Amino acid sequence: MTLAIIGGTGLTSLNGLEIERREMVHTPYGEPSGPITHGVLDGKPVMFLARHGYGHTIPPHKVNYRANIWALKHLNANWILAVAAVGGIAEDLSPGRLVFPDQIIDYTWYRDHTFFGENLSQVVHIDFTQPYDRGLRALLIESARAAGIDAVEQGTYGATQGPRLETAAEISRMARDGCSMVGMTGMPEVALARELELPYATCAVVANWAAGLHGQTVVAMSEIESTLRTGMTQVRKLLTELIHR
Ligand code: HPA
Repeated sequence: MTLAIIGGTGLTSLNGLEIERREMVHTPYGEPSGPITHGVLDGKPVMFLARHGYGHTIPPHKVNYRANIWALKHLNANWILAVAAVGGIAEDLSPGRLVFPDQIIDYTWYRDHTFFGENLSQVVHIDFTQPYDRGLRALLIESARAAGIDAVEQGTYGATQGPRLETAAEISRMARDGCSMVGMTGMPEVALARELELPYATCAVVANWAAGLHGQTVVAMSEIESTLRTGMTQVRKLLTELIHR
């Protein structure tokens, strides 16, 4: 069983990954964000893909989500763990914490969001009641507990278009909608994985309080970057546990 990790902002490479080879996959949907890295992490085979490119140059609305997911399926990934930076909306989602969302609301627009848009012999509507894979979420929760990581075990991810951050009013609306975190890459990634029947879960790292919360007047990228550096150390600990389950 091979785990594929899609690394987001703050995780363009995986500490401790023994790289075996990099493979560029040409897909019917164009090029993925970069070559897929095949390697060994703590003795287990894994694949790794940097969502924004290895040089972090592809903004969230330009990521070729279809090519990324198709490529991982093509290479026989069995699970996808997405690592993503988010802004915290709920009280308990303070900067630095890890959170495993169980729901998502899509506020993105004009992204290529389906494999079932053309050349169909029949219209396809996937079930998406529970967008994240239950089994993989359960493993994440167990792994975090075993590693002594105080993760938030559920929450609703609000996926915004970006690349700009949100207004304070947009965050108030998202809070009223029931979002506990905000990020820019959760959709269509998770839906595309479901369309290809690839079990997918997200480990989100809270990088900052979302716009306008807790008396904040601006969201500082410098703060986001330093919080993510420490958050990713936790992600790495979590992966060590997850990989052996
Ligand atoms: N908003 C959207 N995406 C994000 C944020 C945010 O505040 N922080 C990290 N990714």
